[in-house]
Amino acid sequence: MHKFAIKVYGCQMNVYDGDKMKTALVNMGWEESPEDEAELVVLNGCSIRDKAEQKVWSDLGRFASRWKREGRPTVAVTGCVAQRVGHAMAARFPWVRLVAGPRHIGALPPALSMLVQDEESRVFLMDDDPRAFIDLPGAPTERVNRWRAFVTIAHGCDNFCSYCIVPYVRGRFVSRRPGEILDEVRALVADGVLEVTLLGQNVNSYGSDLPDGYRFSSLLRNVAVQTGVRLLRFVTSHPRDFTPDIADVMAAHGDVICPSVNLPIQSGSDRVLKMMNRGYNLDQYRAAVSSIRERLPGAGLTTDLIVGHPGETDDDFRRSLDALEEFRFDLVHSAAYSPREGTSAASREDQVPGEVKMRRLNEVNALQARIAREINSSLVGSEYDILIDDLAPRGSGLLQGRTPSDKVVLVEGGEELLGRFARVEITGGESWRLDGRLLPASR
Ligand code: SAH
Ligand code: SF4
Ligand code: F3S
Repeated sequence: MHKFAIKVYGCQMNVYDGDKMKTALVNMGWEESPEDEAELVVLNGCSIRDKAEQKVWSDLGRFASRWKREGRPTVAVTGCVAQRVGHAMAARFPWVRLVAGPRHIGALPPALSMLVQDEESRVFLMDDDPRAFIDLPGAPTERVNRWRAFVTIAHGCDNFCSYCIVPYVRGRFVSRRPGEILDEVRALVADGVLEVTLLGQNVNSYGSDLPDGYRFSSLLRNVAVQTGVRLLRFVTSHPRDFTPDIADVMAAHGDVICPSVNLPIQSGSDRVLKMMNRGYNLDQYRAAVSSIRERLPGAGLTTDLIVGHPGETDDDFRRSLDALEEFRFDLVHSAAYSPREGTSAASREDQVPGEVKMRRLNEVNALQARIAREINSSLVGSEYDILIDDLAPRGSGLLQGRTPSDKVVLVEGGEELLGRFARVEITGGESWRLDGRLLPASR
C-alpha cells in the first residue's frame, strides 16, 4: 500500500481542497502516514503573501537528505503556490515531480498513478484558461475535522483588487451549481458533520453567473432548510455585494445560520480603497455594517485589514485606526502589504518602506488587542450552546468550540464531549479567545 502525507498552508479553501485530495487518495487505496514515512508528500500551498510562499520553499528544502539517501519522497506541489511558482520549484528540486494548480485537483488521481508507475516521469497540470476547472467529485469524507467541514460554493474571483494574487492563481469567478452544493452538504451531514462553512472569495456574488436569478441568499436558505446541517457559516463577504436579503435570511434561520460576518474592510481611507479597486467607500462600508447590525443584533463582525498599501500615507493609516475604533470588530486579520508580482499595486513606485509597514502593523495589532479584550471581557457571564469540535492547541488539555458569533471558547472537559453540543458560561475574555465552563444543560 502506498503511503502519503499532506500538508496544507493558507486559507480554508486550501483546507477544503486538501481534504478532497486526501479523500481521493484514500479511495484509491493509499494510506495516510507521518511525513517521514510517506512515499508521496503533497504540499498544498498558498501565495497570498511572500511569507506564505517562503514556507513552501523552505519545506521543500528539507527533503534533500532523504532524497539523496532513499530517492524518496516524491513531492507534489499543489494549490495557489503551484500555479504561481510551481515550475520554479520543480526546476530547483528534483523531488518535485508533480505540480498542479488549484483548478486541477480533479486531475490528480490519474497523475499520481502515473508517477508511481513511471519513476522518471514528472507531471505539470497548469492550464492557462482561467475558467477551466477539473473538480474532484464527491464530498470530502477524510477531513481535518470530523464534525466541521468546508464546502467551496464558487471558484476564483473577478474583482482584481490591486494587491491580490487570487484572481491570477484561482482563476475567474465560477459558481458551483446549487444542486451539487446541496448534495455535497447532505453527504457531509450523513458522514457526521454538524457544522458546514460555505466558502468563496466573494460569497455574496454567488449566483451572479447562474442563469435563473438564484442568489447567495437563496443558497443559504436552501442549505439551512434542506440538508439537515446543524450549524451553517460562510466566508468571505464582500462589502460591495452584501445585500440586505442575506442578513434577512440569516435572521429568519438563526437557529442554523450563525450570526457572524467576515466583512473585509482592507483600509479605512477612501483614497486607499480607491487605489485598491475595492468598489466601495467608507460610507458604503458603514451602511453595510449598519444593515447587518440592525437585522442581527449581537452578530459577530470580523474584518481583514492591510497596512502599507503603496501610496498609503500616515493620514490614510490614521483613518484605518479610526475605523477600528468606530466599528469595534471582534477580530481583525491584519497584514503588512506584500507585493505580488503581476498585480497592479506591485508595479507602483510609491511603495511604503518595510519598517513603516511593520510599525503600522504593530500599532493596528495593539489597538485591536485592546478593543477585542474589551468586547470579550464584557461577555463574561453570558451563556451559549457550543459545538465542542476540537482539542485546544498546544496540549493545554482543554477543549474548544466557537460561539455562534464565531469566537473561540476554551473549556475544561473530557474528550467524550467532542462532537457534542454543550451549554457554556463565559468566565473570562482575552483578545483572541473566551474562557468558559460547562453547564449541566445541553441541547
Ligand atoms: N476575498 C477576500 C480575501 C482573500 S485574501 C476579500 O476580498 O477580502 C485574504 C486576505 O489576505 C485579504 O483580505 C487581505 O487582507 C490579505 N491580502 C491579500 N493580498 C495581500 C497582499 N498582497 N499583501 C498583504 N495582505 C494581502
Ligand atoms: Fe482578492 Fe479582492 Fe478577490 Fe478578495 S475580492 S480574492 S481581495 S481580488
Ligand atoms: Fe492563499 Fe490561495 Fe487561499 S493564495 S489565501 S490559498 S485562495
